[in-house]
Amino acid sequence: MIKGQLLYEGKAKALYTTSDKDQLWVEYKDQATAGNGERKETIAGKGQLNNQITSTVFEYLLSEGIPSHFVKKLSDTEQVIKKVDMFSLEVVVRNVTAGSFSRRLGVEEGTQLDFPVVEFYLKEDELNDPFINEDHIKVLKLATDSEVSELKEKALEVNGALKKLFDSIGITLIDFKLEFGKDSEGAILLADEISPDTCRLWEKNTNNRLDKDVFRQQTGDIVPVYQEVLNRLTPSHAR
Ligand code: TMP
Repeated sequence: MIKGQLLYEGKAKALYTTSDKDQLWVEYKDQATAGNGERKETIAGKGQLNNQITSTVFEYLLSEGIPSHFVKKLSDTEQVIKKVDMFSLEVVVRNVTAGSFSRRLGVEEGTQLDFPVVEFYLKEDELNDPFINEDHIKVLKLATDSEVSELKEKALEVNGALKKLFDSIGITLIDFKLEFGKDSEGAILLADEISPDTCRLWEKNTNNRLDKDVFRQQTGDIVPVYQEVLNRLTPSHAR
């Protein structure tokens, strides 16, 4: 496969065309941002950790019957993905209160929710990715009613599988953000990444943060933290 032109460069990843019109080449960058890009730092090693974690998680999800855009890992920092037409939506699932849920609704962090809560955000940096509801999604033609139902259903399926995965390695899955796209046949496919950048992961016994909150809250170095997540996800012989 040949790497083609740069298509898009985001905060943490760059996307390139390939010799296959249905596939893209992703490069994970050593960049961390917080506050919608207000604070930006280069962190050596972050790109390869997120690429390896995301690849491992997508392979696990496939083994659980949940396909995604992930095709294969090419190198420490690169992977091939299926080209999909992305919904301009972020789908957040929450099991335990934290982050914006706690801030907005005044609920103490760490409160177990009676059922997983699904939220939608408009993916629009200029507007700071605002929270939106299902009527907003419909009226703005971001997705149809049946697509919204499918996005929710798929997000909850991913939640079930991920909770099981992280629980088995001593980690509580607090919340996470997913993105979805439509493939050339119009099927909705899980896309983007699943990593400590996009999940809140708390160590079970200590509630130590094993995710990007370490960077957001400037409480330490994320490289050993992300490495710990990768080590737990993959036996040493598979790394
Ligand atoms: P929040 O509590 O800040 O709304 O975040 C909920 C989850 O979504 C958390 O695991 C972090 C993740 N997230 C992203 O991956 N990207 C984002 O832009 C935001 C706002 C949250």
